[in-house]
Amino acid sequence: MKITVITGSPNRKGTTALLADKFIEGATEVGHDVYRFDAAFENVKPCISCGYCASNDSECVHKDSMSKLNDKLLESEMIVFVTPIYYYTMSAQIKAVVDRFHANNAKLSGNKKAMLFAAAYGSDDETMEGLEKTYEAILSYLNWNNAGVLLAKGCPAREVIETTDYPNLAYEIGKNV
Ligand SMILES: Cc1cc2nc3c(=O)[nH]c(=O)nc-3n(C[C@H](O)[C@H](O)[C@H](O)COP(=O)(O)O)c2cc1C
Repeated sequence: MKITVITGSPNRKGTTALLADKFIEGATEVGHDVYRFDAAFENVKPCISCGYCASNDSECVHKDSMSKLNDKLLESEMIVFVTPIYYYTMSAQIKAVVDRFHANNAKLSGNKKAMLFAAAYGSDDETMEGLEKTYEAILSYLNWNNAGVLLAKGCPAREVIETTDYPNLAYEIGKNV
């Protein structure tokens, strides 16, 4: 299966980078074709709501890293979102990518699975609620099916998440995807 993993952290060796690494390790081991897009290290300009894409066959006025990602998104059967919690939801880096789905809404809609991996400092019920709601709404809007969610609460840093079972769970999810 073709899988696109989109990460949203500016920490190359952070908590969510580890979750992405482990998921990809598991998925690759069982033969999946995984493309990784680290949004924080790419050039992704925010959507400016100009409407150009609507009348120009999905072409965007921005000429940036989304050009290479769009092809991968369109051909992938599964899209995996990996993000740290920033103020109760996904990071701005990955949200900019999601907003740019706008140019391809119709082409992206339907027939895909999605997964969500996240990590946060907090561990109370509210910590991930905003992200979960947003993720569910995005999937509903795009007619994608949720294939799994891993929410690593109480994980402010790499050395903490390494002491938990979350990295291994991400690996197992990848192997069983
Ligand atoms: C700007 C910013 C906002 C954050 N907001 C939250 C938050 O609302 N709730 C929370 O539990 N942790 C919050 N955190 C902590 C991160 O989610 C946490 O440290 C996470 O493990 C970072 O992931 P990373 O190492 O992959 O970058 C925030 C961190 C930053 C830098």
